[in-house]
Amino acid sequence: MQSLFISITEHCNRFCMHCFSDQGVGQRSNNYLSLATLVSSLEKLKDAPFIMYLTGGEPLLHPQLGEIIHFLKRRAVVILLTNGDLLTAGTFTTLKGMEQVIISLKSTDNAYLREMQQKVKALRENAINVSSIFVVTRQNMSEIKPLLEFTQKLLLPLLIQPAYISPAHPQFGSLSLWKLDEQEWLFLDSLMSKYLLAEGSASYYRFWKSFYHGQVINPPFCQMGNDCLVMDVAGNHLTCFHQAGQSAPFPACFGEHCLSLFTYL
Ligand SMILES: C[S@@+](CC[C@H](N)C(=O)[O-])C[C@H]1O[C@@H](n2cnc3c(N)ncnc32)[C@H](O)[C@@H]1O
Ligand code: SF4
Ligand code: SF4
Repeated sequence: MQSLFISITEHCNRFCMHCFSDQGVGQRSNNYLSLATLVSSLEKLKDAPFIMYLTGGEPLLHPQLGEIIHFLKRRAVVILLTNGDLLTAGTFTTLKGMEQVIISLKSTDNAYLREMQQKVKALRENAINVSSIFVVTRQNMSEIKPLLEFTQKLLLPLLIQPAYISPAHPQFGSLSLWKLDEQEWLFLDSLMSKYLLAEGSASYYRFWKSFYHGQVINPPFCQMGNDCLVMDVAGNHLTCFHQAGQSAPFPACFGEHCLSLFTYL
């Protein structure tokens, strides 16, 4: 198997307005996947995954994170998805032996960026690759430029992804990219043109921009449920984050909620 996404906790220290697991409801469970459940759940898989992504919620809140990483790093390439807030001198030792940390950047505030710069440096000193993600909503597009400048200065790869916002979200109108008018798309294009040159990610941006313009006729082949699986906090195997364990009648199940996942597949 190519990849396994493991949700090790549903708990988080942040309440991002766009978060998949929240969507404006403001509710979050405090569940954690125990190491014992993780081990027995891995034993039930048909093949060993090549890459394991630790996600959540915020994985750095997990009290057994060190033990989990120690167990997994001998079996697969381990990658951590985090908001980075809880990275401290102590955590760098815990994370040693991981392949990569992917930090989702949440602000353009100077103090925040200075703090993230130090964390990136410390991770690299501990031989851990670092990259970053920014999730774009209608509201935060103006943050793309300062984040591009920040990441380019650090030679930090940046992936710009569209935020999935449920139509039931109380702030759908102000957050969703479905609501961008032509002027706003032109503004986004002007920002993204700098990004595309810097990162060579033209095809991904073209893909999701054309989706929002109703132009995707055949969605790309999805590996979820085939080469890639999700493990939830209870140790259950799901075909993907969105299918809650049911088999996916692809491509009928393809939608806006899948756009960010396609960058990993
Ligand atoms: C759910 S978070 C969990 C890990 C960690 N708390 C973080 O924020 O990186 C995993 C990834 O999903 C992204 N994400 C969260 N909500 C999203 C949404 N509605 N649409 C697209 N990506 C989203 C986050 O930015 C992050 O890169
Ligand atoms: S930090 Fe991650 S898990 Fe937490 S609310 Fe934000 S996107 Fe969701
Ligand atoms: S819902 Fe999306 S990510 Fe999940 S299997 Fe279907 S196409 Fe793939």
